[in-house]
Amino acid sequence: MKVVITRKIPDRIKQLLDNECTTYMWNEELEPMPRDLLLQQIADADALFTNVSDRIDKEVFQAASKLKVVSTMAVGFDNIDIEEATRRGILVGHTPDVLSEAVADLTFALILATARKIFEGMNYIKDGCWRGWGPMLLTGQNVYNATLGIIGMGRIGKKVARRATGFDMKILYHNRNRRKELEQELGAQYRPLDDLLRSSDIIVMLAPATPETYRMIGKREFSIMKPNAIFINTSRGSNVDESALITALKERQIWGAGLDVFEKEPISPEHPLLSLENVVVLPHIGSATLETRINMAMITAQNILHGLRGEPLLHCVNPRVVT
Ligand code: DGY
Repeated sequence: MKVVITRKIPDRIKQLLDNECTTYMWNEELEPMPRDLLLQQIADADALFTNVSDRIDKEVFQAASKLKVVSTMAVGFDNIDIEEATRRGILVGHTPDVLSEAVADLTFALILATARKIFEGMNYIKDGCWRGWGPMLLTGQNVYNATLGIIGMGRIGKKVARRATGFDMKILYHNRNRRKELEQELGAQYRPLDDLLRSSDIIVMLAPATPETYRMIGKREFSIMKPNAIFINTSRGSNVDESALITALKERQIWGAGLDVFEKEPISPEHPLLSLENVVVLPHIGSATLETRINMAMITAQNILHGLRGEPLLHCVNPRVVT
């Protein structure tokens, strides 16, 4: 059995796969595997170890005559044509749960960094501007007691809400389904989207990328947010109309934004978002703690091994595929 691995992964995870399969690994940590090489290597592969930056579309599936399992080292699978995989009887695995706490931590880090001007403060010192204590110097927004609006109350949303209780925040949420148990447990209140946008001081986008959520936050949505609103995105860039966000930030329709994800990644250093002072940006590192990434890689490998042995995947996106 041959497994194609599209990015350099830790030795001990690769070893797991090597024990049972022949592997082809693209030996780069940061550069994506070139498309033509992927198309060439996938031709005789039984499984694919992929990640958020590979586009696994019809062309890839057409090039792969033996493929049985696609396993992505991510919870999100919007980069994979699930319908096409399912039509071809190919199982798709992913890594939910294991990253929820880490992403919730980073979401909170962005909330705090944006609201309390953490990076501005650091740059202020580094740039030699700090002359002394000033009564109104680098004043930000309160996080404690603020109203937090969570869009997408799934696994990660719940972890964010739990952290918010420690900050005495009022928690509003919008989700496809009401989460009555979380309303009871955390005091979260369900709100229609517009209501949440109008009432929240801090809005966190955590919905998965689907056709329904594509650019779900745009010009109209920013225009109804509070002028002191802070917008955080740790889900997918495609959920937000980036040019509408830039306008909203420039024209101070909202107060600030903290972003870990972008419409096109990596964003260039010349990207207009980077010229704005009321934005904190990170390079898609929501789940990037060493422990979490090792666990994600391990589950990704296990999904492949299970699938190739004909056993159920640990986490399968399309379990109804008949192999
Ligand atoms: C995911 O898991 O979908 C993240 O975006 C990558 O860590």
